[in-house]
Amino acid sequence: MIDIQKIRADFPILNEKVNGKPLVYFDNAATSQKPQVVIDSIVDYYTKINANIHRGVHTLSQVATDAYEQARLTVQKHFNAKKSFEVILTAGTTHSINIVATGFTDLLQEGDEIIVSALEHHSNIVPWQMLCERTGAILKVIPFNEAGELQMDVYDSLLSDKTKLVFTNHISNALGTINPVQEIIDKAHAVGAAVLIDGAQACPHIKPDVQAMDVDFYVASAHKLCGPTGVGVLYGKEEWLNKIPPYQGGGEMIETVTFEKTTYAGLPHKFEAGTPNIAGGIAFGVALDYMNGVGFDNIAAYEDELLKYGTEKLLEIEGIKIYGTSEKKAAVISFNLEGVHPFDVGSILDKLGVAVRTGHHCAQPIMNYFEIPGTVRASFAFYNTKEEIDVFIDAVKKAKMMLS
Ligand code: ALA
Repeated sequence: MIDIQKIRADFPILNEKVNGKPLVYFDNAATSQKPQVVIDSIVDYYTKINANIHRGVHTLSQVATDAYEQARLTVQKHFNAKKSFEVILTAGTTHSINIVATGFTDLLQEGDEIIVSALEHHSNIVPWQMLCERTGAILKVIPFNEAGELQMDVYDSLLSDKTKLVFTNHISNALGTINPVQEIIDKAHAVGAAVLIDGAQACPHIKPDVQAMDVDFYVASAHKLCGPTGVGVLYGKEEWLNKIPPYQGGGEMIETVTFEKTTYAGLPHKFEAGTPNIAGGIAFGVALDYMNGVGFDNIAAYEDELLKYGTEKLLEIEGIKIYGTSEKKAAVISFNLEGVHPFDVGSILDKLGVAVRTGHHCAQPIMNYFEIPGTVRASFAFYNTKEEIDVFIDAVKKAKMMLS
């Protein structure tokens, strides 16, 4: 059970006013808010233990290194990775995907096929298109239906012994659809293809078990998980991380350097060139501990209630169309008011203190499918309430009155 008042007290920003109104923060799919323990951990790091890691003999450097490596263990445990060095700490989901997409350059040949879902964020489309341009590989797309669900029969027909890679998000950022990732992984493996799952939108709602999924790569961002921006994770199976070359060269990722030849460090350092976001990495660990303290089963059950309540209330307003109506759906409602541009709705909601995202949500192919410029997206987190949904619904009604 969620103790909502106790949880809300952990998030100082929820007491803020925006445009003179109490903040109703429904843009959680863009980034989550941060509890005080996460904010404190960043302040504590810079106040008490700031030093560069993995290099100093001095005490502070060792303390900072221990804290950073402890965070890696926390991430390992959270995702249930077999080995701690299968956890690469990155700058975020986009960085993680680019490490893999670039790393596959020498592993693909002209005519090889890679499969992407049509429900992707641009960050899980563009790096693969760039990979295809470099290698001559062919990008195939799994379409979706009116409800925003992947057409798995088409996926079956796209798979063949030419398929080398499959990648999809776990949950769609624009529609909230929870994709059948286990089926996608199992079927890809049956033809010998590797699978990358973009968990950026799933991780705030569910706790993935990478070993149980048997996934090859799983990526996510800390900032959607109550952690800081500029930090993320690339989980990769040891065998795959050994096969792909480093993404960036620099300090920390080497074993020896001479002008004749450089040899690379082992995992995970091979992919962690340069000084990382040390405070951010440590705070990521604190954020995961915080969310596990709330409990992902509790989070999922509570957010589901918010989703049902919000959907019902919104559909009572005439002229509302919701995009993404899959039965398996996270707490994201993408919608439009008939005849009104989403930007105008979002601007009025903002004046009333309600923060939503408007636009194409970095998922233009989805908007093209529905033949719309964008949507208004309300995305809920475990610290939101039904009372806030009531404020949001009143704000949408006011927007409708003013705009139609
Ligand atoms: N990917 C983030 C979103 O969907 C930024 O809003």
